[in-house]
Amino acid sequence: MSEPDGLPSGGRIGGGRGVPRSRSSLVIAIDGPVGAGKSTMARRLAETLRCVYVDSGAMYRALGWKAVRDGVDLTDHACLAALGAATDIRILPGPAGPRVLVDGIDVTDALRTPEIDQAASLVSTCAAVRERLVALQRSMAARAGVVMDGRDIGTVVFPDADLKFFLDADLSVRAERRRRDLERSGAPTTHAAVQEEVARRDARDRTREASPLIPAADAIRIDSTSLPADEVVRRMLAEVARLLEQDNS
Ligand code: DC
Repeated sequence: MSEPDGLPSGGRIGGGRGVPRSRSSLVIAIDGPVGAGKSTMARRLAETLRCVYVDSGAMYRALGWKAVRDGVDLTDHACLAALGAATDIRILPGPAGPRVLVDGIDVTDALRTPEIDQAASLVSTCAAVRERLVALQRSMAARAGVVMDGRDIGTVVFPDADLKFFLDADLSVRAERRRRDLERSGAPTTHAAVQEEVARRDARDRTREASPLIPAADAIRIDSTSLPADEVVRRMLAEVARLLEQDNS
């Protein structure tokens, strides 16, 4: 059986969740470094599959926002753990995309600044914060399929995900994507400055003790350096189709 876009609708039990696997019940993990194109791909995949899209980085950004607002020392893990435990983070659907609420305040439009890039990166090194946010991320896949992007989705959050992708691209290309995002959001800067900042955040993500950024052993790797977004999505959807066809055969 197939849907109008040619993807099989699914069949046999899979994904480690004990329910028959269908396109809209899939748990799909997309990990990779800054600017690899994760959120664009995750959003498009979720739209096509009619799954929920969850940007796990937005949760770390939300806590980073509160830490900055409250003047919390971003290197003090005991303080960050207490902040995490005392903060209510919610992601709610909105007409123009998901909204992020911190203790009931909509902070969505404040999360993409260089200051919050830095704060989220530091907050995410705290193991107790991660534990709390991982529980929240898992709860979001309890009732529906999800496409979730982040750094540890395939390794820690959903080790039994139906599909795992690891997206990467050359540093210079990733930095340029990030520079364009910043320009669009009214914070113009130079390519060199962004590249330095992206390299620093990458290094922190890859070398931190708690859930470092590494590809899951069973992740499908895609290098998007010279691939248009449409081609990356096409490859990902081909993997989804292959999986569902396997179930049906
Ligand atoms: O994907 P992003 O740039 O919005 O993520 C913000 C920060 O949060 C980034 O520095 C890495 C961290 N992060 C993480 O450690 N684990 C995740 N699953 C998602 C993001």
